[in-house]
Amino acid sequence: TKLKILVVAGDGIGPEVTGEAVRILRSVAELGGYDFQISEALIGGVAIKQQGTPLPAATLSAALESDAVLLGAVGGNEFNSLTPDKRPEAGLLQLRQALGGFANLRPAFAFPALSSNSPLRPEVIEGADILFVRELLGGLYFGEPRQWDRASNSAWNTMRYTRDEVVRVARVAFELASMRRKKLTSVDKANVLEVSQLWRATVTELAPQYPGVTLEHQYVDACAMHLMNTPRNFDVVLTENLFGDILSDESAVITGSLGMLPSATIGGKVNLYEPVHGSAPDIAGKGIANPLGAILTAAMLLRHSGNLEQEAQAIETAVRKVLEQGHRTADLVRAGETPLSTQEMGKLVHQS
Ligand code: NAI
Ligand code: MG
Repeated sequence: TKLKILVVAGDGIGPEVTGEAVRILRSVAELGGYDFQISEALIGGVAIKQQGTPLPAATLSAALESDAVLLGAVGGNEFNSLTPDKRPEAGLLQLRQALGGFANLRPAFAFPALSSNSPLRPEVIEGADILFVRELLGGLYFGEPRQWDRASNSAWNTMRYTRDEVVRVARVAFELASMRRKKLTSVDKANVLEVSQLWRATVTELAPQYPGVTLEHQYVDACAMHLMNTPRNFDVVLTENLFGDILSDESAVITGSLGMLPSATIGGKVNLYEPVHGSAPDIAGKGIANPLGAILTAAMLLRHSGNLEQEAQAIETAVRKVLEQGHRTADLVRAGETPLSTQEMGKLVHQS
């Protein structure tokens, strides 16, 4: 296996946590005899400071030439007075757009060792393992027309999908479900929205091509409740953009800490991998950030860009083991426990 990986660590805790993810990637390459070419480029606030723009041309072209991009996080308090198009976050949005991924994968799972970190009861979340497939380039966030018309005191956005946009993201979801527990829950609001009727009809039409996968449909409001009541009943959840944004954040409470959650955006020219959390300015530079979200993101990179399922699972198992042994970073500790540093946690996973 040969993989060209571009690391854009970004701001705040971004470099701290991606440093640990890269440590793991390097050791996977060494153990497996794989050829990983890992290089780095600037994005976000650090790119603004050094190059005057949040996404330098050199970063964009390096990203487009790589097999996978691993991002830390962007943003910092010192940039908060800039207009949105000049801020660090603009660099990430431009990068996402240029890479063109339309399927955002966000797992939500319970770690037995962290069950007391979730506000949900342990017996409810035990064994929960959900993979959200959220459509990322369509729907209300991009649909035209959109406007706030101050003169008429009204505003509108447009939820629009084409059949092809639904087909391509639904195929990703069916395929992932067929490699997991073979259940796909498609989420819509087909009792009210025409877009959802197109969504449901299109997903239903594809189902016979994936005979091994059981398809069910849920209305988004009911789904929001079922996710908290019976999270174990879900395997892969397919949603349009807005519904997926909301439901995947809601389901983050199953895991218990933002610092644990990975994500991948696939289907475009180059896949983009990033932990769900931001740059965490409140703890940046202290070496106390939780690197496990970034490390699990590296596992997703190996799975989806390297086709290295065994190695991905080995990393996930190592993370589980380290947590079961009681090791915790500051965001996970309970009263009386001593937290590990970012590097100590990274090294423990590396050794496991
Ligand atoms: P945040 O995710 O950076 O932090 C929220 C809270 O969670 C903070 O208390 C932080 O200390 C904690 N936290 C986050 N990740 C952690 C980790 N790995 N270990 C331990 N604790 C962790 O979100 P916030 O504060 O809303 O945003 C801060 C900056 O990050 C802003 O500039 C925002 O725009 C940016 N941001 C960037 C994202 C990205 O690059 N993909 C995503 C979200 C926010
Ligand atoms: Mg969100």
